[in-house]
Amino acid sequence: MNTQLIDAPAALAELCFADDLETGWGEAAWMEGRQIAVYRTEHFGFYASSHRCPSTGAKVMARGILGDATVDGRRVATIACPLHKEIYRLDTGDCLSSEGAALPVFGVKELGGRLWMEASK
Ligand code: FES
Repeated sequence: MNTQLIDAPAALAELCFADDLETGWGEAAWMEGRQIAVYRTEHFGFYASSHRCPSTGAKVMARGILGDATVDGRRVATIACPLHKEIYRLDTGDCLSSEGAALPVFGVKELGGRLWMEASK
């Protein structure tokens, strides 16, 4: 890998190559001391969230079911937890299926074929 091609902003942490992710699936990764889930959606691009479902704490979100929903007249990417099917927005983390806690989400940028995640604050 040539790390000289991209001058990534300091607030971004390198995740993987975009082509490492299969469309319509998530992958688990270890980033900055925690498990995250990285997703390549069919129509909405790349997202990242905690791998831990806020409902029970189970580390399963990368194996969730990607989809979409209409919120305030706009289509948004979603992830359904594979265990009890709570549905979360991937752009905000809001739980759409109940009054449950939000899923922590992280911004993802694609630069030069590689994915970068916003570093935690
Ligand atoms: S563990 Fe995720 S909805 Fe129950």
